[in-house]
Amino acid sequence: MLTLDNVCYTYRTKAQTIEALRGVSAEFEVGQFYALVGPSGSGKTTLLSLLAGLDVPASGEIRWNGSATATMDLDRFRFDHVSVIYQNFNLFAHLTALENAAYPLYLRGISKKEAEAKAADKLKQVGISEDKLHRLPSHLSGGEQQRVAIARALVSDTELILADEPTGNLDSKNGMRIVELLSELAHRENRCVIVVTHDPTVAGKADNTLLMEDGKLRND
Ligand SMILES: Nc1ncnc2c1ncn2[C@@H]1O[C@H](COP(=O)(O)OP(=O)(O)O)[C@@H](O)[C@H]1O
Ligand SMILES: [Mg+2]
Repeated sequence: MLTLDNVCYTYRTKAQTIEALRGVSAEFEVGQFYALVGPSGSGKTTLLSLLAGLDVPASGEIRWNGSATATMDLDRFRFDHVSVIYQNFNLFAHLTALENAAYPLYLRGISKKEAEAKAADKLKQVGISEDKLHRLPSHLSGGEQQRVAIARALVSDTELILADEPTGNLDSKNGMRIVELLSELAHRENRCVIVVTHDPTVAGKADNTLLMEDGKLRND
């Protein structure tokens, strides 16, 4: 469903040109949980950004169900198909856990009541207890904030779920719980889940591990 065909991407600054992706080809399917591993600077975040539709390749192609992202309205693509879980959570500080998780549904014009009912359901699924629904992120632990960020990614039912080091700030128990959740999402809800991680235990849970090195993928 998501196909990368010889994808290249270059950052140009005044001082230099950095070839961050140098011919990446891969296929990602729904129902699968992928880990993307590799040394720092190897291009993992850049690849995730292109998959998220934040930009298009300099050359080569990313196709979503056969259509190249370069020919799409990228805002629309992201809105319809992609949820991203960021390493630093990116929760809205002035919104409660419930409002944060419901936010993508507010954007989709769903009534507040319906949005919050669905969000509460997802928050329960990720293990946020009811007494915490109305807390601001600053009154939640790091692990709880991360789970709220995951609930927010689940609530809009997008097929593609991308996460950049989602367990980076968590202890191993909470980290494992998040990984199990992401893996369940892929398998039970038939999403395509792609996680950047440097944690071998996370990668060990994935159906497929892709190794990125120097802007290229080594599949094994
Ligand atoms: N905004 C940017 N401007 C210039 N160079 C960048 C930018 N973002 C990343 N790079 C460079 O692109 C390469 C790949 O970076 P990145 O995708 O962040 O790797 P990773 O996530 O694997 O650490 C690195 O050499 C990095 O320095
Ligand atoms: Mg990175």
